[in-house]
Amino acid sequence: MVKSSKVIGSGRTRVVYDLGNGYVLKVAKNKAGVSSNKNEFLLFHSKEFAPIRQHLAEIKQYGSHGLVMKKYTQPFRMTKKYIQKFIELRSKFKKNGIIPCDIWSRTHKGPSLTNLRLNHLGEIIVIDYGAFKFRDKHKK
Ligand SMILES: Nc1ncnc2c1ncn2[C@@H]1O[C@H](COP(=O)(O)OP(=O)(O)O)[C@@H](O)[C@H]1O
Ligand SMILES: [Mg+2]
Repeated sequence: MVKSSKVIGSGRTRVVYDLGNGYVLKVAKNKAGVSSNKNEFLLFHSKEFAPIRQHLAEIKQYGSHGLVMKKYTQPFRMTKKYIQKFIELRSKFKKNGIIPCDIWSRTHKGPSLTNLRLNHLGEIIVIDYGAFKFRDKHKK
């Protein structure tokens, strides 16, 4: 299905293919990956969380095959300015009722380089928000 695509990254729960058109395909490796894809889709499209959508990697498509997400290539910058921006972003998530899991690296004791990117405006974008906790009206 993704014959001509190459793997751009891989984490604990998903393998990510570069589709070569500015988007990536995230395919679940395990059950946690399935729920991460679903979680990202629900959070990105939730009206309730619209104020924080600009900080989430854009999602184009979601289905049983996986999740199609916009590709972001600019790494996070470990500078004072960006660490300050990161701290502000984290409190914005919390103020909006979201627990932003996995954006802090316990190993490196800093913002997660694997789950964060910058966009063309230099804004912080979360590319892995599969583990974020939030009120989900769809869940029972
Ligand atoms: N939108 C994206 N653009 C570019 N690279 C990505 C994107 N999403 C994921 N990746 C790459 O794939 C890796 C694994 O994706 P991630 O969503 O973190 O999966 P996991 O849930 O397994 O941690 C990331 O660390 C990153 O290197
Ligand atoms: Mg990850």
